[in-house]
Amino acid sequence: MPASSTTVFDQPAALMAWSDAQRVAGRTVALVPTMGALHDGHLALVAEARRHADVVVVSIFVNPLQFNRSDDFDAYPRPLDDDLALCREHGVDAVYAPRAAAMYPPGFATHVEPGPLGELLEGAHRPHHFRGVATVVAKLFGAARPHVAVFGQKDFQQLAVIRRMAGDLDMGIEIIGMATVREPDGLAMSSRNRRLSPAERAAATCVPRSLQAVADALSRGVAGTAELAAVGRAVVQAEPLARFEHLEIVDADTLQPLTTIHDRAVAVTAVWFGQVRLIDNRLLAAGRPA
Ligand code: PAF
Repeated sequence: MPASSTTVFDQPAALMAWSDAQRVAGRTVALVPTMGALHDGHLALVAEARRHADVVVVSIFVNPLQFNRSDDFDAYPRPLDDDLALCREHGVDAVYAPRAAAMYPPGFATHVEPGPLGELLEGAHRPHHFRGVATVVAKLFGAARPHVAVFGQKDFQQLAVIRRMAGDLDMGIEIIGMATVREPDGLAMSSRNRRLSPAERAAATCVPRSLQAVADALSRGVAGTAELAAVGRAVVQAEPLARFEHLEIVDADTLQPLTTIHDRAVAVTAVWFGQVRLIDNRLLAAGRPA
């Protein structure tokens, strides 16, 4: 792909001015929020963004507010030069890569509380995580002023929280969820995968296998969610390097636990490999995309 000109911003006001100029020129703006360590999953989001708008902004910011463990925040990969090169190669029009001091200057005090959607599932295991996500995404929306924003469905609950926030706060931004991009062996692409040892990386296929086992059991006629979840859990527990955290079957819109499957059911799971926590999900029946 030909290299193109990518403007890099590290201050919100400069990005706002650039985005306003795009709008004045009659161009639509798409935002792809990321924490960097870009992989093919992010590049698919960029390609999707390009289908929905004239110019594409990628934000790269490892957001301290959404980490509940400092070791996880410190260990999060930050290959900024490689990320910028990838953005240039893929024709990204602007990159927003602020430092923490530009994102959260002294005196910063306002947070977005996502409400009940942020307290279930992931939120129960990672207190304040979605408050941190909602706050930074609101700020990214404020700086980039996009018409549309594209997020991966791997972070299923995050997508639900952001959709709710954008609607509740009348942000006027179309939120697009994109199907999870997977490695050939089924593992969902994630920046965290690069922190797995080779043995853990091999073991991590138990995550998509567990979700596949749930789907297979459902198609064999197992309909109770407790039984289905047990099938998936057993796949993970058979893998010595995996530490099962949760697998739940919930309503795709409300994220409330289900006792029986309906056409908006989704299995969501989190599994640990050493210090690395991986999440994944699978829609279990036909319905509109999450
Ligand atoms: O999904 C992510 O990478 C992050 O949670 C996001 C949306 C960029 C907010 O920091």
